[in-house]
Amino acid sequence: MTNAYDDAYSRSLEDPEGFWGEAAQEIDWYKPWDKVLDDSNKPFYRWFVGAECNTCYNAIDRHVNAGRGDQAAIIYDSPVTGGTVRTYTYAQLLDEVSRFAGVLKGRGIGKGDRVIVYMPMVPEAAIAMLACARLGAVHSVVFGGFASNELAVRIDDAKPKAIISATCGIEVNRVIEYMPLLNGAIDIAAHKPETCVILTRPEAEASLTEGRDLDWATAMASAEPAECVSVAATDPLYILYTSGTTGEPKGVVRDNGGHMVALKWSMKNIYNVEPGDVYWAASDVGWVVGHSYIVYAPLLHGCTSIFYEGKPVGTPDAGAFWRVISEHKVKCLFTAPTAFRAIKREDPEGKLLADYDMSNYEMLFLAGERLDPDTLHWAEDKLGVPVIDHWWQTETGWPIASNCLGLHAFDIKPGSPTKAVPGWDVQVLSDEGEPVPAGDIGAIVVKLPLPPSSLPTLWEKDNLFKEKYLEEFPGYYSTADAGMIDEEGYLYIMARTDDIINVAGHRLSTGGMEEVLAEHPDVAECAVIGVEDQLKGQLPVGFLVLNAGTTKDEPEIVAETVQMVRDRIGAVAAYRTAVVVERLPKTRSGKILRGTMQKIADQQDYKMPATIDDPVILDEIDDALQTIGYSKARS
Ligand code: COA
Ligand code: AMP
Repeated sequence: MTNAYDDAYSRSLEDPEGFWGEAAQEIDWYKPWDKVLDDSNKPFYRWFVGAECNTCYNAIDRHVNAGRGDQAAIIYDSPVTGGTVRTYTYAQLLDEVSRFAGVLKGRGIGKGDRVIVYMPMVPEAAIAMLACARLGAVHSVVFGGFASNELAVRIDDAKPKAIISATCGIEVNRVIEYMPLLNGAIDIAAHKPETCVILTRPEAEASLTEGRDLDWATAMASAEPAECVSVAATDPLYILYTSGTTGEPKGVVRDNGGHMVALKWSMKNIYNVEPGDVYWAASDVGWVVGHSYIVYAPLLHGCTSIFYEGKPVGTPDAGAFWRVISEHKVKCLFTAPTAFRAIKREDPEGKLLADYDMSNYEMLFLAGERLDPDTLHWAEDKLGVPVIDHWWQTETGWPIASNCLGLHAFDIKPGSPTKAVPGWDVQVLSDEGEPVPAGDIGAIVVKLPLPPSSLPTLWEKDNLFKEKYLEEFPGYYSTADAGMIDEEGYLYIMARTDDIINVAGHRLSTGGMEEVLAEHPDVAECAVIGVEDQLKGQLPVGFLVLNAGTTKDEPEIVAETVQMVRDRIGAVAAYRTAVVVERLPKTRSGKILRGTMQKIADQQDYKMPATIDDPVILDEIDDALQTIGYSKARS
């Protein structure tokens, strides 16, 4: 017997145009599409070609017009500013967003112009994003934990006409001044924005640059509201840079039409929430989870979205999430497993839960990294609600695999994000591109075309898009995750096949860190690997081979490289540990055996690579790891 999930899944693959054409009825269009799926330029596929729409209209105006104006759209809850709570109804959000769109319009920003948003978790970040969408401008949000250099790389790639920022962010009780970072980035970048709009926060004053900078509040005070601009469904809504295999980030492009259709569909069918429900994605607007599930999806669905400026622990304690859930009557929480590991570490018995009324709370969704069974069981046990692991990527913008609670709740198998979501033809292939039998590990791929909301390309880099995602397995999108599908169709995500590591749910490139280390004058060669960590899932560890004749102390060099990564990439890289070694293990063709090093560090069994140049070096690596508390020393 089939269920609603089975029916939706097979229909989505057999008749994608019918399936998504129907889902698109949930969106208001200025002009309907000529074709649901345009496959005339393979391997580039476009959804809802010919349609005209506006994402901001669908996220805000439509709800106000339909009588939802007095409902809370965003609740800003900020323990780091002494417990600020501020609610924006849909009507108030419309007023703020249309006036901020007016500010941008007044500075000549319109359809197709790029705008970088470099902001902490304040609601003005969402207002800025939605204002761009209103004008048809393309936003690119840069996570506040990135340093000037990372911001500069994104400025040079996106070439924004304007940057929206704030005077500071707040990390627990540490004020991070943004203006030095912003000005530093603009100095480094070759491209210079014409305008910066700066939100002054009480925690930090900043002097503005005459002619370039506008103060947010002053500009808003005299702003004329701007109306929604009609854009093509295929026009870009945003660019979101994500880590690739080098320090050069990849600009994932998201379109307007397909994005709205998929996100709106996901809210009922995956997350099982209704318009009016309170939905909370405890992430950051700088990540894809923040784009999709703090800002766009909850608003497109008419929910109330929680905008939380705080941490799971330390603001002030491990009961912070329960407080927010009970105070704002949250029905669904979405976060990364690392947040729950942090809570569990501080309050293993979950005692703080007793202080809060959790009666409105119904489900927990986790994503961004592997959900370890311990954390899954702890959350299930303490919260008594379904705990759903689901798998997705910046590139996809919404889940590829999940237990779709709005369609059919499957039994949970620990370690598995359940099954492919409708729209996603997920398969596991061997290195030769052949399907592997159920239960065998291989490369996880998705048969083209990808469903709506997936990246149509990389920003101004069609060839790189093809090279990175479509060439390894022709006809498929390569996810760069390895894993398996069991006999019941449950998917298991086991590891990345590239050098991306996942630190506290943050996606980082070890290649990018190596590029920074290699610039140290005493470092001849280096490697960075991700080692298992109880709290953050993985942590980067550096191996440094020094130049012959270096006289500086090794600890000093290590400390300098730690600071370099912090300065160049940002604190979020969490690169704190490195060790000096005589040489690195390599294949005979000179490829560094990072995978084997990682297995040694994690005390996993490994096969001696057939092509290894000198096996003795692996023992040296093991010895070096022991000196910093990894490998054998950990057991
Ligand atoms: N701006 C500036 N600095 C930031 C920052 C931001 N937006 N976000 C993080 N940082 C800094 C942190 O303060 C920390 O600095 P430190 O080295 O001086 O201590 C560093 O970057 C590393 O941050 P993080 O890895 O997040 O560690 P943490 O110890 O601060 O917090 C957790 C650990 C688990 C509490 C935290 O990662 C968390 O809440 N995760 C929740 C899940 C999440 O947001 N996932 C994202 C994708 S869903
Ligand atoms: P990001 O682009 O930051 O969302 O990171 C995407 C990557 O995070 C994926 O390619 C996976 O490697 C990992 N990831 C995300 N969700 C999960 C999950 N539920 N289980 C295992 N890994 C995950």
